[in-house]
Amino acid sequence: MKRVLVTGGAGFIGSWFVKLAVEKGYKVIVVDTLTYAGDLERLKDVQNNIKFYKTDITDLNLVEEVFGKENPDIVVHFAAESHVDRSILEPAIFIKTNVEGTFNLLEVSRKYPIEKFINISTDEVYGELENLEDQFTEETCLKPNSPYSSSKASADMLGRAYYKTYKLPVITVRPSNNYGPWQYPEKFIPVIILKALQNQPIPVYGNGKNRREWIFVRDCAEGVLTVMEKGKIGEIYNLGSGEEKENIEVVKTILEILGKSEDLITFVKDRPGHDLRYRMNSEKIKKELEFTPKTAFEEGIRQTIKFYIENMEWVKQKEEELKTFWQKVYE
Ligand SMILES: NC(=O)c1ccc[n+]([C@@H]2O[C@H](COP(=O)([O-])OP(=O)(O)OC[C@H]3O[C@@H](n4cnc5c(N)ncnc54)[C@H](O)[C@@H]3O)[C@@H](O)[C@H]2O)c1
Repeated sequence: MKRVLVTGGAGFIGSWFVKLAVEKGYKVIVVDTLTYAGDLERLKDVQNNIKFYKTDITDLNLVEEVFGKENPDIVVHFAAESHVDRSILEPAIFIKTNVEGTFNLLEVSRKYPIEKFINISTDEVYGELENLEDQFTEETCLKPNSPYSSSKASADMLGRAYYKTYKLPVITVRPSNNYGPWQYPEKFIPVIILKALQNQPIPVYGNGKNRREWIFVRDCAEGVLTVMEKGKIGEIYNLGSGEEKENIEVVKTILEILGKSEDLITFVKDRPGHDLRYRMNSEKIKKELEFTPKTAFEEGIRQTIKFYIENMEWVKQKEEELKTFWQKVYE
């Protein structure tokens, strides 16, 4: 079976991908430096079936060392700083990890007989949509608005350049907003669930009318695996679910499932550069690779709520780090 090197495999989406790849019999090598967002707990079910390197992708020599030892056939690159709010507070680490880290991986991959390099980008690279009937296609011009999305757009463009210039077999995937079990509790959906469970005020940016397209994390991991197996070299694939919701609608759905009052909703000052709407056209992955996400939004949310209720101990471990972060956001 092929040797798949997964960067960011201890993160939220990466860990779901690692579990699926192991299930399918791939030999998986995880490279992750374990930032605040990385956690091997997510991989406990497959810990005996993977190889793990606690390695920082911003260190070219260390990346070279891992490639030298493992000689991977395929690279799936998830590792990133991934939280928009943090990128507004501390942009430098986003440039370092997302741009320089991706550059290092592409540069080292060029020296090895890599069959495929799957570069995980994001729908946020397209910027925002204003008209309800519009959708981003793979051809839409990139207009990122936050330090996070511009660092991801840079990484996305580096992937393109390495394909065009060096014929490195890069394929780019642009997933929409993910949610599901094991998401770090700083992100929108876990925040709502956890605040609601504790009857605390639920902060919603601006007027709550911002719209996002939500994909269940397992579906996203399956989509990435499909691209890895069937995707065409040099191509870009949008990976969305079509489940587009206003933020306020997401909050109300969660409150309703939990039987909590809408009085918990508290509107807070909007974040700077907050994109109004993202929505992708994902016909290409559907038609060309026959991939469609399976999980309806409400079903995915129910599974996510169940996870947080059953794993409060895991959430508690993150509380200290989160407290410092939220203090900075509201300073
Ligand atoms: N979560 C989403 O909604 C979403 C949507 C679209 C695209 N993406 C992209 O998918 C990828 C994974 O997102 P996620 O939500 O799982 O992120 P995450 O923050 O949960 O995980 C990122 C992982 O990368 C690791 N990492 C960070 N810096 C590193 C470094 N210098 N060296 C090695 N490892 C490092 C972290 O330890 C962590 O395990 C990212 O590239 C992100 O931009 C995420």
